[in-house]
Amino acid sequence: MDTVTLKNEALQRIEKAEKTSDLEQLRIEYLAKKGTVQQLMVQMKDLSPEEKPAFGQKVNELKKVITQALEDRQKQLAESELNERLKTEKIDISLDASSAPVGSLHPLTLITQQIEDIFVGLGYEVAEGPEVELDLYNFEKANIPADHPSRDMQDTFYIDPNTLLRTHTTAIQMRVLEAAHGKTPIKLVCPGKVYRRDDDDATHSHQFMQSEGLVVGEGITLADLKGTLQFMIESLFKEGTKIRFRPSYFPFTEPSFEVDMSCHICGGKGCNVCKHTGWIEILGSGMVHPHVLEINGFDPKKYTGFAFGVGLERIAMLKYGITDIRDLYTNDIRFLQGFKKYQ
Ligand code: DAH
Repeated sequence: MDTVTLKNEALQRIEKAEKTSDLEQLRIEYLAKKGTVQQLMVQMKDLSPEEKPAFGQKVNELKKVITQALEDRQKQLAESELNERLKTEKIDISLDASSAPVGSLHPLTLITQQIEDIFVGLGYEVAEGPEVELDLYNFEKANIPADHPSRDMQDTFYIDPNTLLRTHTTAIQMRVLEAAHGKTPIKLVCPGKVYRRDDDDATHSHQFMQSEGLVVGEGITLADLKGTLQFMIESLFKEGTKIRFRPSYFPFTEPSFEVDMSCHICGGKGCNVCKHTGWIEILGSGMVHPHVLEINGFDPKKYTGFAFGVGLERIAMLKYGITDIRDLYTNDIRFLQGFKKYQ
């Protein structure tokens, strides 16, 4: 077969190939070592020396043309094979999209964040401390010596005679005071878990959350405490909420106060939530006891401070209308879903 006929035949067959695998077959048939084109080279030896160059050139030309045609067709077929696959393997992503359920922040996390936001906005720092605490920080440094009757109210879980699960975030307060080495100002809040050997019922739990607030500096007065708590309560509940101070006793503050807020449900008129008194007890507070300042390295003649401790479950229950504290710990998704709207 002469080269022209061979070329035409090869080009036609390549053009007609319908699969890339057919093309591979053709490539072997024409271009492989024992393929038709290579066989032409073998014929060269029968030609005269004058004829050889021209024939060689033709064969090379033929090789080039066939290679190019194979490549072109290969591209075309690959593209149409891909299109075909895309058509048949198409996934309709708009169909039956199963949505992943998204959780919501726990109400106690919401309250923790709100308290942190309020106080960070006032230039406070957020402090932390260990939940397994030394008697030294939980009691001794808070002016509660071993034989002090107020220990009974905070009976807790002891790991050994000197180590216990902290009963209040006041322990963090003592750690921060000690670590400050007499340096002021100190402005902090410290939310965290605390533990007491308490009955578990609708309003009590052996484990709950508190946040302490502490400010120590020169010229800090009860008026600062009052203004700060007024701001905190209004920010947590609503503007116009009133607070009132009732004298109380805590070993680490003097004077000490229980703080009530006007009922956020009835506005002070009296309802079930405030037991028809118009007021709701909300936290404990006071001026840092001079002895506490002194044993922690501060000159009580120069420095004063205020402190408060607030129960976060109580805030969450009042704010979100939760009637059983245990709902906060049972991780029932149906309950927790209800708090999505607050985040
Ligand atoms: N530690 C107290 C308690 O757990 C709460 C408290 C009251 C903390 C008065 C304070 C404070 O810092 O000044 O009942």
